[in-house]
Amino acid sequence: MTKRVLSGVQPTGRLHWGNYFGAIRQYIELQEQHEAYYFIANLHALTTIRDREQLTDYTHNVAVDLLSLGVDPSRAVLFVQSEVPEVSELYWLLGSGTPMGLMERCVAYKEKKERGIAANLGLFTYPVLQAADILAYDSHLVPVGEDQVQHIEVCRDIAKSFNHSFGEVFVLPEARILKASAKVPGTDGEKMSKSYNNTIEIFEEPKAMRKKIMRIPTDSRPMEDPKEPDEDHLYQLCSLFVSDEQREEIAAIYRRGNFGYGEIKKRLADAADAYWTPARERRAQWLQRPDDVRDVLIDGAKRARRKAAEVLDRAQAACGIAGASQSAVVRA
Ligand code: ADP
Ligand code: TRP
Repeated sequence: MTKRVLSGVQPTGRLHWGNYFGAIRQYIELQEQHEAYYFIANLHALTTIRDREQLTDYTHNVAVDLLSLGVDPSRAVLFVQSEVPEVSELYWLLGSGTPMGLMERCVAYKEKKERGIAANLGLFTYPVLQAADILAYDSHLVPVGEDQVQHIEVCRDIAKSFNHSFGEVFVLPEARILKASAKVPGTDGEKMSKSYNNTIEIFEEPKAMRKKIMRIPTDSRPMEDPKEPDEDHLYQLCSLFVSDEQREEIAAIYRRGNFGYGEIKKRLADAADAYWTPARERRAQWLQRPDDVRDVLIDGAKRARRKAAEVLDRAQAACGIAGASQSAVVRA
């Protein structure tokens, strides 16, 4: 059955391996069979980026990167979040029924605060806007990495509560994660994240990428010791790029012992380099065509708005703040 698929990436920095293997790879797979909506979450990014040039630049770059990685505008709707104002309207309808406790339980907010990011209202209510993003398109499936699963659960809670009060307005979405790469480790072994300074960017210059890989910290046990591959982040990173057979071969090297991490790093650098080459070539072309990127986003926003307006009308009518006919008059 064809489903509606939706997901977003914040333009808070350059895309990294975790973004690709956790989420974007799923975007590309799912657009083949489903009705897919993918967007650049610039309203979410505004909770942390307070620099116009930087936000504009990252937004354009994420669009270029998604296109280069294989998001296909003839299959998927690609757009910028803020260009669908219906979502911001829906945010209020949803927030009005969201208990404070539900937000207080969200770990992303607590983590950001602990890392010294100044708390602001947008950051606190971030999951409500995310719920609006998802519900506005009657989404069934939301491909994401593990860190977003809680937000999808919150979205379901918000939708259920609205439906309970006002009737069956919203579709309940489900998170979709790829078990093997739902939490890609960074160079320090923690979750790879733009905000942890432990990323390897997808489109890093090949030389810089190699350098970064060669500098990944590893343990200092004697070379001869056998090692458990699954406990090692270097092995986990290698696994992303190689075939099953090669993965088994590398695992056997770990278990046997008597190897240097330098040789594993070199294999990783070679495999990553080869893996990203086609996307890098496509990116060089998209970078030459900023007008085409803009046209893709304009067309995407039009298509996204059509769907979001339909859902917003339905939600407004259900909760008694406007009849569908009233908003249709304004839009005419
Ligand atoms: P970041 O945490 O680097 O700011 P985003 O929050 O923009 O990244 O995440 C965009 C998408 O990439 C989300 O679906 C998120 O779950 C996924 N993602 C981010 N980091 C990882 C990771 N280390 N492993 C797997 N998926 C990830
Ligand atoms: N919060 C997501 C992240 O940080 C980005 C996002 C915003 C999103 N709205 C969404 C993801 C809706 C999936 C669905 O990665």
